[in-house]
Amino acid sequence: MMSPVTVARQTPSAESVSKLFRTHFGRLPRVVASAPGRVNLIGEHIDYNGGEVLPIAISRRTWVVAALRESEKQTVLRAVSATEQEACEVPLKGAAKSGRWCDYVLGVAEPLLRRAAAELGDQLSLDVAVWSDIPPGAGLSSSAALEVASALAISSLLGHEMDARDAAMAAWRAETEFVGVACGIMDQFASALAREGYALHIDCETAETDHAAFSDTVLIIDSAVRRSLRDSRFNERKVECAEALSLLRQRWPSLVSLAAAEPDQVLAADLPQPLDRRALHVSRETRRVREAITLLRAGQPLTRELLVGSHDSLRDLYECSRPELDWLVQRAIGFPGVRGARLTGAGWGGCVIVVGDSASLQSAQVELARDYQSRFGLTPQLWSTAASPGARVERTG
Ligand code: GLA
Repeated sequence: MMSPVTVARQTPSAESVSKLFRTHFGRLPRVVASAPGRVNLIGEHIDYNGGEVLPIAISRRTWVVAALRESEKQTVLRAVSATEQEACEVPLKGAAKSGRWCDYVLGVAEPLLRRAAAELGDQLSLDVAVWSDIPPGAGLSSSAALEVASALAISSLLGHEMDARDAAMAAWRAETEFVGVACGIMDQFASALAREGYALHIDCETAETDHAAFSDTVLIIDSAVRRSLRDSRFNERKVECAEALSLLRQRWPSLVSLAAAEPDQVLAADLPQPLDRRALHVSRETRRVREAITLLRAGQPLTRELLVGSHDSLRDLYECSRPELDWLVQRAIGFPGVRGARLTGAGWGGCVIVVGDSASLQSAQVELARDYQSRFGLTPQLWSTAASPGARVERTG
């Protein structure tokens, strides 16, 4: 049996990704940008229901370097990645989704170049190299990080420094309109607007944000369960939530969102199953986020009640957990120094977060990994993170 691994991959950097660009395209890049993945501390399946969420950026990032090129004929995006087998060469005009990794770059690049064409001419092609240490498909927002870093790099190339909020929106539009994933705004906002040492509090109804100091360590455990059904189940939940809201509005027409419904209203509405469970999760979870933010603002840590309460609700009411994730949460909270644990991201696989102090998490992780592997025969990946910096342009010129 293979022993469980604590991940120690090569860390990408401005230098390594610039070198990849030089090797592949035979010239120097003009801009280097980077953007982090995220974990959500609490507030799951709340962003598309108009409530509040509380993510942090993680220490793993995606690096994007880029340069423009005058092209005689067709304008194209050429993109290469250190972690993807296949390089891409796709037209920018009339850009079409191909189902490949470079869709995330293309979905951001096409509208930016189209808008710049009036000023800079319409014969500009784009070369991009990418390097990321965010594992794809683990629910850590690797796609949001690629979109946000691309938005910053390409806008900087075009001479328009984008602010973080505009980068988040450009990334979110690429994800929803071009790639076609009907997600909420959390992932792109977290990657773009997070700050080192702080959790990002987002009101997803108004898109207003603020920051609250967060000094605990977060142990991320990638369960190695991948979610083939994830997208269909995610869309099914969105539809259920929309149905629950429209039923609640028959009684309370001014309800602005499902998250705005009080738990008592949800209970009183006597919704059909499973809409009653979905609505109750959303209503209670957004209130847990408010409690969490009150604690952080008072300099207090997050509590077990909030974190495990969120997990239990995702398991029982939203029904997006898995036995592997439930097991990890139960096992993790048995270790001294652990404040709480819960699944993070969409669920149906992916990652669990364990919140606590760094030394306790360090000593818990070897045992957790070993026992998980012998229980489920899956090799988890584990690493610790603090609340890390958001996206930035690293270098230009
Ligand atoms: C995915 C989506 C997010 C959010 C989470 C669940 O990560 O991309 O927008 O809905 O699921 O909280």
